[in-house]
Amino acid sequence: MTNQTELIKKRYDRIAPYFDKIEGMMEKMMLGELRSTFWQQVTGEQILEAGVGTGKNFPYYPAKAIAAIDFSPVMIQQAEKKRKTLNIPVDLSVMDVQQLDFPDNHFDTVLATFLFCSVPDPQQGLLELKRVCKPGGEVLLLEHVLSSQKIAALIMHLLNPITVRLFGANINRETLKTVQSCEFSSVDVLPASTHIVKLIRAVK
Ligand SMILES: C[S@@+](CC[C@H](N)C(=O)[O-])C[C@H]1O[C@@H](n2cnc3c(N)ncnc32)[C@H](O)[C@@H]1O
Repeated sequence: MTNQTELIKKRYDRIAPYFDKIEGMMEKMMLGELRSTFWQQVTGEQILEAGVGTGKNFPYYPAKAIAAIDFSPVMIQQAEKKRKTLNIPVDLSVMDVQQLDFPDNHFDTVLATFLFCSVPDPQQGLLELKRVCKPGGEVLLLEHVLSSQKIAALIMHLLNPITVRLFGANINRETLKTVQSCEFSSVDVLPASTHIVKLIRAVK
């Protein structure tokens, strides 16, 4: 693991016990609805969720076994508690998305929500998601990105050093461009997207 990856992992370990509380208000006001729309796109039998965090997506999971990973052991502990409470058939593992321990062409659908703001090398992480996805399978992402509106983008650039320091999250990443650089067969932005939050579908 690189020094940068170790540093960001420690930040997530630190905030994991408070993560649901920190994001509670935003989740109720906006993110819950976006998650619901996002999960309506998810199909396939073999599914991987990368960067599962505390398991905020568990209530939206289809009734089938899903593999889920996160590089923060404390996040995985929180997800494990939620898994037991909600009785979700999810197989949780500590793993870095930049170096996945799955074979090539393994999953029908690989997805992540609000992950690529914090992965130290986002292109490497996306290439790994592509690698483990079957040909014709989908990589689905729900991600906040740098706003397309000038003033909002300027504020995001200014605040970015603070959000990285506090939460390990960059708020000025251009994740759509990074996905487009990974040579998928197609990349689409779904209509429910806003100028900051994008639902992205990439087909391998
Ligand atoms: C902003 S949180 C989002 C969590 C969850 N997906 C959600 O929607 O609430 C980012 C998550 O990605 C995880 N993460 C960041 N970089 C990672 C990496 N390289 N490999 C695996 N997980 C990573 C963090 O530990 C954290 O749980």
